Amino acid sequence: MIFFIDTANVDDIRKANDMGIISGVTTNPSLIAKEGRDFKQVIQEITSIVDGPISGEVKATTVDAEGMIAEAREIASIHPNMVVKIPMTAEGLKAVKVLHKEGIKTNVTLIFSPAQALLAARAGADYVSPFLGRLDDISTPGISLIEDITEIFQMHGIETQIIAASIRNPIHVIDCAKAGADIATVPYKVLLQMIHHPLTDEGIRKFQDDYRKVFGE
Ligand code: E4P
Repeated sequence: MIFFIDTANVDDIRKANDMGIISGVTTNPSLIAKEGRDFKQVIQEITSIVDGPISGEVKATTVDAEGMIAEAREIASIHPNMVVKIPMTAEGLKAVKVLHKEGIKTNVTLIFSPAQALLAARAGADYVSPFLGRLDDISTPGISLIEDITEIFQMHGIETQIIAASIRNPIHVIDCAKAGADIATVPYKVLLQMIHHPLTDEGIRKFQDDYRKVFGE
């Protein structure tokens, strides 16, 4: 399993990229709105930082296939690494079919059931984004969704990549890796939580103390 970062904040993207831990980026309308900046400008900056798949979503207010297709073509024209995020609706599936034929990569988002993931894959999606945390939020085990989609895709030789999304903590990340997700898209805060361990911090302090006692700074 590889990591994408789930944010539109270019500073956080740069910091994660500098650590060599991310292979791509996912954004969504809420994350773009949080930055309060022009969509195209933010996306262009991201493509200049990370050399990997960058998901940019069609406008949340665009609900018809024709509108999504037109926007998807614009998003795809920003950079060859762009992947267009399309919501899981009947109109979205129609858009995915057309975009697939045009060679535009898609990531079908807001997946909450294995049936939705299977449909998205059959429509031609390159990626599906099942949302783990939002299911946990309503007391439905999100990890079962990742496990079920992984099993079904493996069983039927489906090449659509599974991006485990809506990740809230390091336990989610490890559960997704064990479930066989291809990718986890992880907020910067959770990437930092994954780095730290109290025994590592304590070990560094002890090595520094022991070294200083004998050799000074
Ligand atoms: C990723 O593609 C999603 O946009 C994101 O992971 C949603 O996460 P949230 O449920 O924490 O908003």
